[in-house]
Order: sequence, then C-alpha cells, then structure tokens
Amino acid sequence: MGQLLPLVDPAMAALGLGSANAKTYKLEKPQYDTKFTDLVIGATGPKAHPRLAQIMPSLLRHLHNFAREVNITVSEWTMAVDFINECGKMSDEQRNETQLLCDILGLESLVDEITANQLATSTTETPSAILGPFYRHDAPLLPNGSSIVTLSPSLPWYEQAIADSAYLTGQVLSSSGGGKPIPLRNAIVDVWHSAPNGLYEQQDTTQPEMNLRGRFVTDANGRYSLYCLRPTAYPIPDDGPAGKLLSLLDRHPWRPGHIHFIVSALGHRSLTTQIFDSRDEYIKQDSVFAVKEELIVDFKPRQGDPQAKWELEYDFVLGLMADQGEEEKDEAAVL
Ligand code: BEZ
Ligand code: FE
Repeated sequence: MGQLLPLVDPAMAALGLGSANAKTYKLEKPQYDTKFTDLVIGATGPKAHPRLAQIMPSLLRHLHNFAREVNITVSEWTMAVDFINECGKMSDEQRNETQLLCDILGLESLVDEITANQLATSTTETPSAILGPFYRHDAPLLPNGSSIVTLSPSLPWYEQAIADSAYLTGQVLSSSGGGKPIPLRNAIVDVWHSAPNGLYEQQDTTQPEMNLRGRFVTDANGRYSLYCLRPTAYPIPDDGPAGKLLSLLDRHPWRPGHIHFIVSALGHRSLTTQIFDSRDEYIKQDSVFAVKEELIVDFKPRQGDPQAKWELEYDFVLGLMADQGEEEKDEAAVL
C-alpha cells in the first residue's frame, strides 16, 4: 500500500529547510510486491520444456522489470496487445509483419549475429546478415559469366539499369586453412537483389519471373562470376503496423542498396549475407540494422566491357560445420 509522505518543496530543501514545516502530502510511489516476479517464474513445472525452463526466468524478469521501470499502464498495454494482434492479422504466406517488426527493432540482426558467433569456427569467416523476406528457392542455375538481369527499353528504370550495370566476381573460400583460406570448388552462390525501382520481381508485375536472381557454381579455383546491377535503396513495406511504429518513432523505412547471397559448399556452414554499396546515403541508417563494416563494398568503374559500367571483386569465406569428423573436413576443404 502507498504511504502518505510530507511533500518537500525543492526550493526549501535547497535552503536546508526540511519537511518539518511542510503541510501538504502526496501518495508515496507504490512499492511493487518484490516476490511477484519470482511467483510467476516459480509457476513453471518440473516437466517444462528444458530450453523454455532455462530461458523463461530471464525473459520474465526483463519483461516485468521493463513494465515496472517505465510504469506501463493498462491502456498502454492494451494498445501493445492490439498492435501485436494487428501484426498477426496482416501476416500470411506473402507477408510476415511480425518478422518485420523484429527487423525494425534490430532483433533479427541481433539473433543472426548471436547464432553466427556461436557457430563460428574461425575469425576469418565472412559475416552473416539477415535473409529478409524476399528470398525464393530454386533460382535458375546459370553458367559463370552470365547475367541475372533481364532488361527491356520499355521499363521506366531501363536507363538506371544501364548506368548501374555491374560485373561481380570473386572466390568462395574455406576458413579451414587458417591464415590462408582454401578455394572451394562446386560451391553454390545464390544471389538476388531488387530492381532500380526498389522492387523484387515477386512484388512487381513488370519484371519477368526470377528476374535478378540466379545460382552460380564455383569453378576449380573456387571462382564465381556474373553480371548484375549496382543495388538501389528501397523502403521496407511500411503500410502496416511496423510502418506505423516507424513513423511514431520518427524513423524512415529505407534500406541501403544491397545484394543478398546464400553461399553453400560441402562440409561448410551455409552463409546467408548481404553486401552494401558504399555510395548509398542510407549506409549508416539501415532501417533493419543489417550493415556490417566488412560487408560494405566499393564498386569500381569497368573498362572495355559493353555489358557493365562497374565491377566488384568480393570473396566469401565459409566456416566449417562444427560437428564433422576429420576425414570429412579434409574432403570438404580441399579442391
Ligand atoms: C530485405 O533485405 O529484403 C529486407 C530485410 C528485412 C525486412 C524487409 C526487407
Ligand atoms: Fe533486400
């Protein structure tokens, strides 16, 4: 129960005058039941799922402390429940609003980093970045040196695509060689990015099926090569609850231009990552917090190639699967 306390005038207190002369009273800030959180944690039974039994005490402590720290009211909590319900109602096969909410809160990027740190077998591995909602399985398998871009002069972004045409090449390497990464042949580089209008092909009826997507198999030297576009910044879908939260927080929905990859090779952990174009104005303010220093790239002007105005060399270093036998490691890591 709250207790009535004498109200101390700060000016009087500054003059060294205490509460003895105070005539007015206010309700003391209620003290919450200090045993309440332990009571809720203690309700977990002996047959609880082991991982949940391990993590729920921490979640409950943080959740309860948060509510107490900021004095959440019933009407604010009701708004939060409605908000989460709205995210669920908007989510379906095409759109995952709850995941988008996690993205703008930085949670997906944080969880991605925690996972990568736990699985890493070397410090030389290329950093991961979130998958995002626009990946499609079974992108066309294309020969090295071919293009993932289908262009027609009737497209409103045709000129932009020509100006941003790029040749991308590099090696897929194994971190198993320690200081000297070993090239991996038959690794698969699965690549996708949005068009200069900021849309992925499945969001855009003007683009052909699987445009700006492809899978490339590395050669005997672990090399891949393809033609693509320098990537363009685009806003994440902001017409739902996550977008509303962004605007209430006075935040923008933009992602810096990026190219997505999933790189996989026998005996190695698949790497899901993105590279970011250093010229992009949003490079330091990604709305989903996926940018990492090592993933920022500088495209260079390309000479003498009618297919590309820019070029980039980028290598991917994959970590070994943690639970492999020595034989498998040797098989996986050598050419
Ligand atoms: C993306 O990069 O495609 C993406 C990532 C998170 C939220 C929305 C889009
Ligand atoms: Fe993306």
